[in-house]
Amino acid sequence: MRILFAPLQGYTTGIYRKAHAEIFGGVDAYYAPFLRIENGKPREKDLRDLNSFDGNAREIPQIIANSVDEFKILANALIAKGYTEIDFNMGCPFPMQVNRHRGAGLLSDIQAVQEIMDEIKATPVKFSVKMRLGQDSPDEAFAILPILNEAPLSQITLHPRLGKQQYKGAIDFKSFEKFHEECRHPLIYNGDITSVSQICEMERRYPKLAGVMIGRGLLARPSLAAEYKGMRDINCAAPLNSDTHQNLLGKLFQMHQVIFDHACKTYQGDSQILSHVQSFWEYLEPSIPKKIFKKIKKAGKLSEYQEAITAMKELS
Ligand SMILES: Cc1cc2nc3c(=O)[nH]c(=O)nc-3n(C[C@H](O)[C@H](O)[C@H](O)COP(=O)(O)O)c2cc1C
Repeated sequence: MRILFAPLQGYTTGIYRKAHAEIFGGVDAYYAPFLRIENGKPREKDLRDLNSFDGNAREIPQIIANSVDEFKILANALIAKGYTEIDFNMGCPFPMQVNRHRGAGLLSDIQAVQEIMDEIKATPVKFSVKMRLGQDSPDEAFAILPILNEAPLSQITLHPRLGKQQYKGAIDFKSFEKFHEECRHPLIYNGDITSVSQICEMERRYPKLAGVMIGRGLLARPSLAAEYKGMRDINCAAPLNSDTHQNLLGKLFQMHQVIFDHACKTYQGDSQILSHVQSFWEYLEPSIPKKIFKKIKKAGKLSEYQEAITAMKELS
């Protein structure tokens, strides 16, 4: 099965995606966080963060739009950059987007979805969709599924929660199964995957599944995709000085160095640099000593942050 790295605004930045592909690998495609409209134009900061990289992995940009007009502006900007595959976001639950009728807020607007799918038919690049079951009810996904089935989509990724649940609460497997049966496009499952055994279980339960997309599980355990490809579970709870943990930590330090160097070159002042490097550790909390995690989080100066990293290296 294909393993796709989910987009996470503020975490899976361009440099993170590139470093992950080079150091951990195992991922078939990296989805970039959404590009959006700002003051009537594609947001420059989002465009700058797109950096097609070589190698076996691919980077797929994503757009978020509330109408066919916004959709065209964003898709054209990416086509002009040379991208031949674009993902369309119909799942973002952030109130800022939902209230503006974007992301999960678009799912209930059958007419806007139809207009966007018509535009996809007329645009000569590949499009995929990443969506939820609805903002308020799973009925929303099933109401637009016939329209999606008619559109020339390369795949649909479904996160089987509602927008109002954000990222917590029960996953609706019953609706996922129904969607899996009725969807005519290759289907990707997304949501709460954290281990190789869970990936294998999804494969067993849904033989038609084209892949899984993993977000927080990969941030917490960057080796997960490579573990699946090599069919072995690394014991993350192993003692700090065990071979597997050493290997994992070694790669984490390597990846961190690339992100740290990039932040120092790109941003100015301790607080800007720190905000970019501290997020690297956020989901890694279970894999590093508690005291060090606290030090990293609390660091207000770059020197304090570096002391915490040095202490962690000495401990390992
Ligand atoms: C902080 C954060 C930022 C996210 N940004 C995006 C985004 O830009 N585009 C998108 O499609 N999904 C975004 N997501 C959703 C994830 O891609 C993914 O669907 C969600 O985390 C569930 O998958 P997981 O349980 O494997 O993490 C974001 C999620 C979080 C927590």
